[in-house]
Order: sequence, then C-alpha cells, then structure tokens
Amino acid sequence: MTTTLITGANKGLGKETARLLLDAGHTVWLAARDESRGRAAADEVGARFVQLDVTDDASVAAAFATIAEAGTGLDVVVNNAGIAKRDGGGSQQEALDGPSVLGVFDTNAVGIVRVTEAALPLLEQSSNPVVVNVSSALGSFWATHEPSRPASRFVSIVYGSSKAAVSMLTVQYARAYPGIKVNAVEPGITATELGGGDPGSHPGRPAAESARVVAALATIGPDGPTGTFQEDEGELGW
Ligand SMILES: NC(=O)c1ccc[n+]([C@@H]2O[C@H](COP(=O)([O-])OP(=O)(O)OC[C@H]3O[C@@H](n4cnc5c(N)ncnc54)[C@H](OP(=O)(O)O)[C@@H]3O)[C@@H](O)[C@H]2O)c1
Repeated sequence: MTTTLITGANKGLGKETARLLLDAGHTVWLAARDESRGRAAADEVGARFVQLDVTDDASVAAAFATIAEAGTGLDVVVNNAGIAKRDGGGSQQEALDGPSVLGVFDTNAVGIVRVTEAALPLLEQSSNPVVVNVSSALGSFWATHEPSRPASRFVSIVYGSSKAAVSMLTVQYARAYPGIKVNAVEPGITATELGGGDPGSHPGRPAAESARVVAALATIGPDGPTGTFQEDEGELGW
C-alpha cells in the first residue's frame, strides 16, 4: 500500500492529482491550509484530510504528527501548493514590494523545504520514497530561452524566479538523499485559479488532464528517475 501526501490539494491540480492517485490505489492525505475547503475536497474525492499551511512551521509539524499518529506511513510527497502574482510587467503589474515577493518565495520555494524536511523521517521508512515538486516551465532557464516554448514569451518576474528555486531544490534534495527519488514537474498550462480570479480564469487545459503527468511522477517505481525535470513529453531542460 502506498501513502501519498499532496499539499494545496483542495482545488486545481492538487485535487485532480489526488483523484488519480486514489484511482491508482494510493491512500491519499489531501492537505489544505483552509480546513473547511480541504475537508470538503477530501470528502469529494475520498481522501483523508490534514490541515497544512506550507508557510507555517507549526502547521507543517502538526500535519506530520497527525500522519505519524495515524500509522499510514508515508511514501510519496507531492509539493503542489503554489501561488502566482500578476508579475508580467506592463499595466497589469502588481506592486513588487518586499513582503509580497517574500510571500511568493515562502509558499513556492521555502514551503517545499518545510514540508520535505518534516517528511524525511517518514519517507526514510518507506521502501520506495518519492518527492514530486510541482514547478513550471517559467522557472526553466532552458524553456525561457527556447523560442518554440511559450515560456520564452511570458514575463514572470517573481513567480518564475521562485520556480527556478524549485529546480535547484529538486537537484539538491535528489543529491542529498540518494535513497529518495526527487523530481520536478511542469504540469502544462492549466485552467485553474492560480494567480487569483474565478475557477478556470487562468488559461489552459483542464486540471484533470495536467494532473496525469504529476500522478505519473508520483507513481514511479524503485528504478525511476531522480533529480530530473519532467513534462508530458519527457525530460524538460533546466
Ligand atoms: N495552472 C497552471 O497553468 C500551472 C502551470 C505550471 C505550474 N503550476 C503549478 O501547479 C501548482 C498548483 O497550482 P494550480 O494551477 O492548481 O492553482 P490553484 O488552483 O490556485 O491551486 C493552488 C493550491 O495551492 C494552495 N496554497 C496556496 N498557498 C498555500 C499555502 N500557504 N499552504 C497550503 N496551500 C496553499 C491553494 O490553497 P487555497 O485554495 O487555500 O488558496 C490551492 O489549493 C502550483 O505549484 C503552480 O505553481 C500551475
């Protein structure tokens, strides 16, 4: 039996990844910062709920204490929680002051460190421990310089650089823990509420479709890759 924790899973890609992994037979801890919305999503898909705000050390510690006490073990962590700003320059530009920028890095990058560090004791007891960091092509130096890629035409000052940090966190965690498979994934441009707005206000394909590549990386076997960045078509350049 494989047990998986997904952060930021009350909606969007996280919830659809939960659905796919439940279908694949995983026990899923659906984590969300908001208790009522998280419980509703967990009930909807048939997952266990745990409150977890990736920017709050106490919340992260309490979530892992809950999982440890429940005795489910933990094999897979999907670091999915993320936020975006309107940070593409021009008239839509949000103010980039220190606190707001720190907020994006705290959620998208530091949050991965908080959750991964707290997960290590449980992951190290698993026979096939896996970490999936949900990143973005906007954090890829390769994709942002490759004219054929949409990422080469978007400006994303803070979100993009926070996802570049996710790349290096992936490389360094993979190196630091050779027994754990740690990979980053670009899910594809997906119609979610990322960056605020109504459901589906972000352009892109349905979350259920993009979640497939996240679920695929969450279900790799003992011979699966580590320290890679993946998308639908296979490996993505850093
Ligand atoms: N949509 C795309 O095109 C796209 C492309 C590439 C990568 N991604 C990445 O995919 C991941 C999921 O995003 P999405 O598109 O599914 O957007 P979404 O629907 O807005 O989902 C983001 C999730 O993260 C949660 N979250 C935000 N801050 C959190 C915190 N401090 N603690 C815990 N959870 C928190 C949100 O919770 P609340 O509901 O409480 O806000 C929500 O559940 C993100 O890492 C994003 O960067 C998305």
